[in-house]
Amino acid sequence: MKIFLLLLVVAGLAACGAGSGEGLNEQGLPTSSSSGSSSSSPSDDAVTLAQLQQNIFGAICTNCHTGANAPRGLRLDSEENSYAFLVNRTADEIPTLMRVNPGKPDDSYLIKKLDGAADIVGARMPLGGPYLSQEQIDQVRSWIANGAPRTGTGSATTKVARASAQKINSQVIVDLHFSRPLQFETITPDSISVFYSTLDGQKTATDFSLLLIDQILHITVNNIPTQAIQLEVLINDSELHPLLDHEHRALDGNGDENQGGGYSYVYAL
Ligand code: HEC
Repeated sequence: MKIFLLLLVVAGLAACGAGSGEGLNEQGLPTSSSSGSSSSSPSDDAVTLAQLQQNIFGAICTNCHTGANAPRGLRLDSEENSYAFLVNRTADEIPTLMRVNPGKPDDSYLIKKLDGAADIVGARMPLGGPYLSQEQIDQVRSWIANGAPRTGTGSATTKVARASAQKINSQVIVDLHFSRPLQFETITPDSISVFYSTLDGQKTATDFSLLLIDQILHITVNNIPTQAIQLEVLINDSELHPLLDHEHRALDGNGDENQGGGYSYVYAL
């Protein structure tokens, strides 16, 4: 099997320095310095509610979400209020969803409102923009994936908090965002499988490279044949070496709150 491990791990994005792509948001603009959580907790990159309150809820949302007349009754004007009005609280606009469903960022209305998901009622938040950078939204996601702890960084298992992919010519880049930083030593040729499917069946892709930057694993798969219709990335399966997080806990691939279990990401080409 041919796998190249590109140089891995940048300890905290701040280490990249100004001018690298890491400091830029989706529009290519520099991310505001207040959005980085890395500066305040070098030893543990997991996001706390206190950091979110300081950098996002208190700094941005309280222009509107303050006091007894806060929109939709959602007060974000102190750490206590943000917790009380978000976590396990029914969303006003879509009462079948919680604002924050601990452990489940994709089922949390807060994330849908920050992403501007197609199925929200009303507008994307912050109302009228500018919207949060992907990095800021990922911080909120990772706090929720961690179990949305009131204090500290929580004891939830480490999971894939979000996955995305993009195709560029014959390459596909899959990004797996973990809820905590991983140990890069555990990312080896035996810990990841990549397959692509054509109408003739499934084949193993052997030409890919891996790049771990903090909580995101970028998997670049090369030379995908034009007739391929689907790509699958498999990690942490029982046949594969488990991925470990920075505290040596095995990844919770299937999201059952226990360590271990496979995770698969399927991308239609
Ligand atoms: C300029 C004012 C304004 C700002 C700033 C703002 N919001 Fe809102 N927010 C509103 C209004 C008005 C509504 C209700 C109408 C709507 O949803 O479009 C709302 C609704 C919401 C809801 C839906 C609540 C529910 O239970 O249905 C969420 C969640 C939310 N905002 C989160 C945020 C967050 C998080 C921020 C900061 C990142 C933010 N908002 C910033 C005005 C604002």
